[in-house]
Amino acid sequence: MPKIIETIDQVRELVRGAKAKGLTVGLVPTMGYLHEGHMTLVKRSRLQCDLTIVSIFVNPTQFGEGEDFDRYPRDMESDSELCQREGADAIFVPSASEIYGEGFQTVVRVEELSLPLCGAHRPGHFDGVATVVLKLLNIVQPDAAFFGEKDFQQLQVIRRMVRDLDVAVEIVPVPIVREPDGLAMSSRNSYLTGEERSRALALSRSLVAVQERVNRGVSDGGELVELVRGIISQAGIEVEYVELRDPETLAEVTKIEGPTLLALAARVGKTRLIDNRVIEAA
Ligand code: PAJ
Repeated sequence: MPKIIETIDQVRELVRGAKAKGLTVGLVPTMGYLHEGHMTLVKRSRLQCDLTIVSIFVNPTQFGEGEDFDRYPRDMESDSELCQREGADAIFVPSASEIYGEGFQTVVRVEELSLPLCGAHRPGHFDGVATVVLKLLNIVQPDAAFFGEKDFQQLQVIRRMVRDLDVAVEIVPVPIVREPDGLAMSSRNSYLTGEERSRALALSRSLVAVQERVNRGVSDGGELVELVRGIISQAGIEVEYVELRDPETLAEVTKIEGPTLLALAARVGKTRLIDNRVIEAA
């Protein structure tokens, strides 16, 4: 079984020992309830680094009021088994007080990239993400850290933060892992009833439909967004946002002329799901 570490001192000791032997260290930050999407990040880290540390911390500061912090799914036994199967060396599971000590008051904000998309609907969310990720990077000081494109905006926020603050780490993006029927894997899929899960397939289906439409010569952003909204609404899903954005700057895009991020968030029943795809121009 991978070593389970609960304190900052212990994880630092492990990393110091590894680095003294000339080993490279990879970090996979997660909130647990691990699935094959997370495991792909672990695989990438194992390929690239000598020692892989998975962190599991359900970070309270990135959840808004009325969000699912209290009921976020947890299963340490299954998480350890998956980490063992994939050959992770250690799991860092700090308590909230280990991460946010008494008197804690610092916030990291990536100004512009945090504003649109999920940032507009979850005020303060990316401040919580940036702050905890910078802390994890400072605690572990890995050579590389692995993030999924499932959370595309999060990835760009973290990349910008690392560049802006000169954090000495390579941020490695990993493509979205989907279920065989197209549903993007997510810990929150466990909230869905069977019926909701079938309806949720409209999300990934709509992303594929847009690429097909673009391949057939449509480049008008408004038309493509309407196509997505139509497919999703027809499945009885409430759209939160559907937007076309520049994949790097997240600036709005009205016409597909190069690789363009199509990002969406929607509510299936009470469950908020996100998905995205980088659309290639025809
Ligand atoms: P969590 O939602 O647990 O996701 C941890 C990492 O797994 C993120 O980088 C996320 O993008 C990636 N991931 C999740 N589902 C994926 C999928 N289907 N395919 C590929 N990658 C996937 O994201 C967070 O936790 C938190 O915000 C965190 C970065 C840990 C900070 O608290």
